[in-house]
Amino acid sequence: MRKLEEFEGPRLVPLGENLYGASFFLMKLLPARFMLERAAEQGQLKPATTICESSSGTFGLALAMLAVQHGYRLILVSDWALDRHLHRRLIELGAEVTIVDSPAPSGGLQQARLDRLQIYLRDIAGSYWPSQYYNPDNPLSYGKVAEQFIDRLGKLDCLVGPVGSGGSMSGTSRYLRALFPDLYAIGVDTPNSVLFGQPSGKLNLSGLGGNILPSNVDHSQFDEVHWLTPAEVFRATHDLHRKHGLFMGPTSGAAYRVAEWWSRSNPGKTVVALFPDEGHRYVETVYDQEWLETIAGWAGPLRASPVTVSSPEEPMSGWSHFPWKRRSLDEVLAHAGEGRDGANG
Ligand SMILES: Cc1ncc(COP(=O)(O)O)c(C=O)c1O
Repeated sequence: MRKLEEFEGPRLVPLGENLYGASFFLMKLLPARFMLERAAEQGQLKPATTICESSSGTFGLALAMLAVQHGYRLILVSDWALDRHLHRRLIELGAEVTIVDSPAPSGGLQQARLDRLQIYLRDIAGSYWPSQYYNPDNPLSYGKVAEQFIDRLGKLDCLVGPVGSGGSMSGTSRYLRALFPDLYAIGVDTPNSVLFGQPSGKLNLSGLGGNILPSNVDHSQFDEVHWLTPAEVFRATHDLHRKHGLFMGPTSGAAYRVAEWWSRSNPGKTVVALFPDEGHRYVETVYDQEWLETIAGWAGPLRASPVTVSSPEEPMSGWSHFPWKRRSLDEVLAHAGEGRDGANG
């Protein structure tokens, strides 16, 4: 399954002294190709197999690009976050797209998508579910990215990236630490996302955060976690475009904001930020002033640096961070709020 492999790797763009953006055309091409390859090797994916997946974005697009190349039927279950440009592109690539619009009582739209997916998997004999949230081949695929960083930069001190399924940050950090055990890994999430312990609530961002905790989020890889509001993420995405000419999606902006801040406070350290996709999909949203006016907090002042929280469960009204210290979620929550001294380490 070598087709499209040339598109998988990132360009490493210098953004400042020792700060680099790992700018992907479509980061999810790598885990998607790797998962399909492994499934074919294990006999789960045969020439006439129907692939079924839940996705509101880039993983679905990556699957559609691969499915059309290799002749698989593809059914994608998606939701409102699927913008009309991407929807058209998926149809053009031959994917069958189903949209769910009512959230499940628990787990929101993400759960509603998974519920619908289960029906397809039950009704279509021999269908295959790549399952980006739970399939360990997702994080495993990132060895290639770690290798590329080491080839280009030598030693890395810090990796920053958005966390959705958890595959990219958990997988890349794990591989890099085989050589650099002190690598400092920072995950970027958003308030109301359960991934790092916030109480579940409505999410106005897609690509990072979630209302369901995927097993591919390996909490023990993270030294520090940041939460950015949608307004902060969108502002950062504009800054990345205006200051560096990089026209990327909002999860890239999120990684940029945090990596740039950390890099300033840690001169001499080599920092890489993961930028998972390009900006074209977001022209009518994140890059549209009228749309931005509808976003809470967009017009107001935004935090220039994060506030340290003593528990990841605290309500957060703006950029916040917490010293995760490579612990499990249970461990962190058991000790959360034990005093600010512990939180400032
Ligand atoms: C645009 C975008 N950025 C970031 C991510 C998060 O990456 P991961 O799923 O590897 O945590 C995703 C995940 O779907 C994404 O679509």
